[in-house]
Amino acid sequence: MFDAPNTKIKNIDIAIVGFGNVGRSLAKLIVYKRQVLEDKFNLRINVKAIFDSKGAVVKEEGFSNYELLKLTEIPRSKISEFENGLRGASLKEIYDKIKPNIHVELTPSNYIDGEPSTSNILTALNLDCNVVTATKSPLVLHYDEIFSLTKKKGLKVKFRGTVMGGTPFIDLLMSLKSYEIIKVEGILNATTNFILSTMYEKLISYEQALAEAKAIGVAEADPSIDIKGIDAAAKLIIIGRLLGKRISLDKVERDDISKLTLNDIINSIKENRVIKYIATIDESSASVKLRSLEKSDPLANINGTTNAVRIVTDSGDLFFVGKGGGGMETAHSVLDDIISIGVSS
Ligand code: HSE
Repeated sequence: MFDAPNTKIKNIDIAIVGFGNVGRSLAKLIVYKRQVLEDKFNLRINVKAIFDSKGAVVKEEGFSNYELLKLTEIPRSKISEFENGLRGASLKEIYDKIKPNIHVELTPSNYIDGEPSTSNILTALNLDCNVVTATKSPLVLHYDEIFSLTKKKGLKVKFRGTVMGGTPFIDLLMSLKSYEIIKVEGILNATTNFILSTMYEKLISYEQALAEAKAIGVAEADPSIDIKGIDAAAKLIIIGRLLGKRISLDKVERDDISKLTLNDIINSIKENRVIKYIATIDESSASVKLRSLEKSDPLANINGTTNAVRIVTDSGDLFFVGKGGGGMETAHSVLDDIISIGVSS
């Protein structure tokens, strides 16, 4: 006897906006996991549109696995050169046609005015589309506007990929309902932790370590966002929102790690200490600072692109270690958000 066809498959139509490292990893991950998602969750994820900075490609019936993999090979900002590509197409025009269930925002963060990601997200919400974002700046600069529209529309905005890229830290933090959270501190930026670890490991200058960090593809499109502590500050602001605190970027005290010399590193080794770039938020302040830690501090032993956070609570300290930024790591968090909207819609 043949198995009866599975009639319960739910189609989730998505549009990916921003097709850099994370966007391409997400397209590949959707292909690799397609069968598992259908078998385990009865979800079929159809990518109906992909946008980059110059244009878009659209397929009303959803791109095939082969097409998605081909699209990941197209050079940056050249997606409109794929068959039937559109240059300068507007989100609204395309969404009116394909009506996606989920808008996936993966454009680079812009901390000057939050664009284009903020307008993209607001447009998607106004068109009754749920949102998954790994882009931090709209949440940092326009959180209230985004979430009041989300509430008004009865939609969902999920952002697990914004903090500790490949580790479900946001979900863990939100699950701590009975704890009083006194302080959250940790290593929230992969690029700068990689730079510091490489300086210790190879005894090279800051500039040489920065060149190595740029090559591994975790740095922001503009690496000064990592180096000046803006990326870690943005993550603190998002964590702050989850703790009910409203902090603006200019209120987060920040060190610039480019001031660090190889001599500082050598001196700290002589003193049996380790310099780390620590982001901290407590009741009264938020900061991203170079701190000299005892070697026995668990944060002193977190190296490379790994992130780690200590949550100081009224019931003792909780410590989370996991993958920070990175294309495939963040793509997993983004896909988990898509699945969670998909299964609950
Ligand atoms: N540039 C960021 C980092 C990427 O280095 O941590 C992830 O947010």
